[in-house]
Amino acid sequence: MRKEKGASRLFISFMALAVLCESRVVKVPTGPLVRVEGQTVSIRCDVSEYEGPPEQDFEWTLVQEREINLVSTFDQMFTDASMKDRVNSGDIGITKLANNAVELTIKKARASDSATYRCSTPSTDSVIQGNYFAEVELKVIGDSLKVTPAISQPTVSEGESVNLQCNIKRSFSAYTSLSVTWSIRKGAAPLEELLTFGPDDQMKLGQNFAQRYADGELILGLSGGGNYGLNLKGLKPMDQGAYVCTGREWTRQPRGEKGWQKILERSEEMGNVSVTPLAQSLVVTLENNATLSVKDTLNLTCSVAAKGLLSLGMEVVWLVKGFTDSDNQRVLLHVGRDGQVLSGSELVGMSRIQPGTFRLLLPNLQPSDSGLYLCQVKFWLPQGTGGWYKAAEKTSDPIQVRVTQLEPDFKVGLTASKIPQFTDDPTELLCEVTDLLNMQDGRLAVTWSYANMPEDTSQTVTTIASSDYQGVLVPGDLYQQRLVNGLIAVTRSSLSTFSLQLLHIQDKDKGFYSCSVAAWTRGHQGDWNKAKELKSIPVEVQWSSKTPVLSVTAAQARGAMTGGSTFEMRCQVTGHNIQNPSYSVLIRYQETESGKSRKVLSLSADSILQLEEGIVPSRADSVALDKTRPLEYSFRLYGARVSDRGFYYCDVTAWTRDQSNTWNRGVSAESQKIQLAFADTGPVFNVSTYSDSTQVLPGETVKLKCIMSVQGATSNTGEVAYDVEWFQSPVQAMENGDVSLISMDHWGVVKKSRENGSSQYSIERTNRDTFVLTVHHIQDRDMGSYYCTAKLWHFSPDTRLWNEGQTLTSAPAFLAINLALWDSMKSPVLYGLGAALVVALLSIVLGFITSRCCFSRNPMHTPRSKLMEMEMD
Ligand SMILES: *[C@@H]1O[C@H](CO)[C@@H](O)[C@H](O)[C@H]1NC(C)=O
Ligand SMILES: *[C@@H]1O[C@H](CO)[C@@H](O)[C@H](O)[C@H]1NC(C)=O
Ligand SMILES: *[C@@H]1O[C@H](CO)[C@@H](O)[C@H](O)[C@H]1NC(C)=O
Ligand SMILES: *[C@@H]1O[C@H](CO)[C@@H](O)[C@H](O)[C@H]1NC(C)=O
Ligand SMILES: *[C@@H]1O[C@H](CO)[C@@H](O)[C@H](O)[C@H]1NC(C)=O
Repeated sequence: MRKEKGASRLFISFMALAVLCESRVVKVPTGPLVRVEGQTVSIRCDVSEYEGPPEQDFEWTLVQEREINLVSTFDQMFTDASMKDRVNSGDIGITKLANNAVELTIKKARASDSATYRCSTPSTDSVIQGNYFAEVELKVIGDSLKVTPAISQPTVSEGESVNLQCNIKRSFSAYTSLSVTWSIRKGAAPLEELLTFGPDDQMKLGQNFAQRYADGELILGLSGGGNYGLNLKGLKPMDQGAYVCTGREWTRQPRGEKGWQKILERSEEMGNVSVTPLAQSLVVTLENNATLSVKDTLNLTCSVAAKGLLSLGMEVVWLVKGFTDSDNQRVLLHVGRDGQVLSGSELVGMSRIQPGTFRLLLPNLQPSDSGLYLCQVKFWLPQGTGGWYKAAEKTSDPIQVRVTQLEPDFKVGLTASKIPQFTDDPTELLCEVTDLLNMQDGRLAVTWSYANMPEDTSQTVTTIASSDYQGVLVPGDLYQQRLVNGLIAVTRSSLSTFSLQLLHIQDKDKGFYSCSVAAWTRGHQGDWNKAKELKSIPVEVQWSSKTPVLSVTAAQARGAMTGGSTFEMRCQVTGHNIQNPSYSVLIRYQETESGKSRKVLSLSADSILQLEEGIVPSRADSVALDKTRPLEYSFRLYGARVSDRGFYYCDVTAWTRDQSNTWNRGVSAESQKIQLAFADTGPVFNVSTYSDSTQVLPGETVKLKCIMSVQGATSNTGEVAYDVEWFQSPVQAMENGDVSLISMDHWGVVKKSRENGSSQYSIERTNRDTFVLTVHHIQDRDMGSYYCTAKLWHFSPDTRLWNEGQTLTSAPAFLAINLALWDSMKSPVLYGLGAALVVALLSIVLGFITSRCCFSRNPMHTPRSKLMEMEMD
């Protein structure tokens, strides 16, 4: 009914407006106005387009079943009795805002205040035109807003989601709208808004959550019945805090303004949400310590314990490192989040047994696979649409994997198979590998070392040569040249025997030799590893390098007592510290003990006999040198001559053969000297005298013979000559002694000694060995004994010289004279005749000498001095 009245009045005023352009307008906010009990309500009222004084008066009337006047600007009595208390207490009042505007205020609205409020202005117009009042409905509602929060779980793991449930209810729903806001308080920081829904189904995102909403991490769930749910996904540690749910009740803005006015707000703590970082909740375990054998398969299981495992992306890295701290860690296998192998050997396999359980299989284990194994897991959480972020990384405790090798096992023995006795001897050492076990396809390599000391201090050890597993020989620095030259050979004589040969050992090679044998086995990639190395006990290589000693003793086996006989000398050789010697013998000759030495004859180490330059060719056939026994040599000289006399000795040299079979000269020694001596008598002869008669008469002629009987005159020469001289030992002249009568030298030159005597002597060689003295005209003084002396000359074809021999004196021959006969013979005629005879004889002898010297002798060998002497004669 009230509405109808109002409507009709409104209609009238519109009509008036339509008729007259200017007519009064009274305005209040469009309603209904919704307010909450106890809240202050202000309702403004404006008047315009009016006539009359500018200041206008206003009246507020409450229209319910009946109209109840509230307040007036001009009439103090206007207030209805039922309202008087509230107006007087100021609970209800009117405030003039302007000449043409007032505001009705109810300080504490009551539910009973819900009514229509009419603002009226008394007319000051000349004509009643327009509307003189306006009405607005006020609804005072109770405070029924209830916010009930619920949180799905107070503790979540990183990456998990939480459901933030908020129930908002109010009893009166007309004219108002609700909004819900989720916020978080982190410590003392101000509330941070996540999301607000409403009023009017609008959604507003907190500054820090817009992206997450876009990424789908904030999901709003409206299940009706005042239930507002916010699902927060992929929680991160930073999402930890106290969550707050705020419910707000809104009414539309008055006076037709757009938007909403908040009339009620209620916040409730939803509770603390603690987010456990993933890293904290994760446990990565690897099992188990293992001791395995070569060629076994390593089977390791890496387990991950974490909440919300399914949403996790796991990147698994298998690591291995050596047992010592210094060993580097290396990646065995790296499998990405998507199960793709990022790095690692193809031999290594990994499988996912179940979510969070990984198995590593490493087949064909080798000792080098021993080590500490670790399993490292990198955890990835989804972020945004299809994105991931690395949330944590965990590495298991290491486990120990020991691969026990059935290690190659063997023994090494070193023996000297050839021991040197002398410098330059060949030497051979054998390095033998025995009791070889677990080698399979392994290989052996050897290293030969030398040390001058038995102790194995590395300073003294030098490597001679070493071979690697491929058998490639690497010479030691100091031995390179000798190895290249083949003087040292390093060989493998059988599968398990290595040999070292020093073909010509040197003094500097004395010392200790050892071999070191290494067993190489194959690794995973076919690489070779040294599995074991054993060194032999050093073997000493020594020999006494005594100086070679050579001695030679000569002994006379046959002495030549006379010329023409055989001389034999034997030389005995004694050698010490000479390796496999052979001897050469040289016979030397010296005429005198300190004289110049001449080489006669030699026998080489190869038993080649050679005449040396010191022998005259004519004697070549007369010497011999033989090896009569081992180490005994015999020298013979046949038909010893005077010129052969002297000293003979052996000059012996020791020779050794080197590797090239050539002779090397060694020590030499000379024997003592053996003298070849025999008395140089020349031919042995006797001289004797012979006379035809022993009783002669003076004046007679007597012939006395001086006869040589020669023995030992060499038949091949035959060249003997004599100096013959006749002597007389006169009976009467005792004091004068023996008187030389006449002589003939070996050239045949006759010399008379007695020129002044009456007796005539002549000498004549009747044959080679007989010299006849003829005494002509014997006188008494010729009586006495006669003897001859003879000096032997023999011609040496060697020297082509005449050699003087001994002088012999004959026994005397006596000549007795019949003196009676002698006296009668004393006559001058006889003297003259005798002299003539002597001259004649002399000329014959001269002729004979001349012819002999000129024709029967080689003039070259004529002693000139004698000839000169003769010519002067
Ligand atoms: C949330 O945690 C803060 C401090 O961490 C504490 O003061 C508060 O009482 C907690 N609130 C609830 C609901 O447990
Ligand atoms: C592996 O061995 C090490 C050292 O012996 C030991 O400390 C560790 O506890 C063992 N681990 C397992 C899983 O048996
Ligand atoms: C690895 O070990 C597990 C038990 O520890 C076993 O079930 C599995 O068969 C083994 N895998 C291989 C390949 O040996
Ligand atoms: C030389 O004469 C002596 C004495 O008459 C005699 O004994 C000796 O045998 C003779 N010698 C020769 C070689 O005729
Ligand atoms: C002659 O001979 C005698 C003895 O026979 C001697 O004493 C004397 O000196 C000689 N006179 C001359 C001139 O030879």
